[in-house]
Amino acid sequence: MEEKAIILSPSLLSCDFARAGEQLMTLENAGLRYLHLDVMDGVFVPNISFGVPVIKSIRKSTRLIFDTHLMIESPERYIDDFIAAGSDFVTVHAEATKKPAAVLKAIRAKGAKAGISLKPGTGAAEIFDLLPLCDIVLVMTVEPGFGGQSFMEAMLPKIKAIRNELDRIGSGAFLSADGGIDVKTAPLAAGAGVDMLVAGSAVFGKPDMARAAADILQAAVI
Ligand code: DX5
Ligand code: ZN
Repeated sequence: MEEKAIILSPSLLSCDFARAGEQLMTLENAGLRYLHLDVMDGVFVPNISFGVPVIKSIRKSTRLIFDTHLMIESPERYIDDFIAAGSDFVTVHAEATKKPAAVLKAIRAKGAKAGISLKPGTGAAEIFDLLPLCDIVLVMTVEPGFGGQSFMEAMLPKIKAIRNELDRIGSGAFLSADGGIDVKTAPLAAGAGVDMLVAGSAVFGKPDMARAAADILQAAVI
């Protein structure tokens, strides 16, 4: 079978915010192209991270593609702001809005790439009708809210089911796994068919981030 290169999207949540510019430069110099930005509102998830001003500020210091993951209630209220701040991809949670299709369409209409994310308790089939509106599908492999948790292997069948459905409808959307990704779990997610891996603590938590990223990508070659 032909090998497919997997994309690594490191999560800013685990960075040293006092040294963010420098750390992003290190990742960019290591050849990485994406950055995952976890926005938490303390309502949809029991944690608060950062929002529009931080994204706008770091947008000036890096050329990485911004893969913004909104863990916020009723994300439709803030789509325009996150796109204006420099997000290339805007991913919303299926559980956070009553009108996910309208939100995905609004993101695309503003010229950004649209994504849907699923908490561990949300089944694959619940988002199948939204897939034609998606450029990215983000499967949570931990309960959203915190970095540094353990990968839930029980999510692998869900990843496979979404992989099959994306292929069946001929979608080119990225399938991404988020939470607990490291050198041990990357091959599991890759085996289930992801195109992209999000990793926070396994990259930013390491003294040699470039090496840590390369090791995860190497482990994902299956
Ligand atoms: C969790 C976030 C993840 C998190 C990943 O709510 O969506 O992106 O930062 O962190 P690690 O890789 O440490 O599990
Ligand atoms: Zn995330």
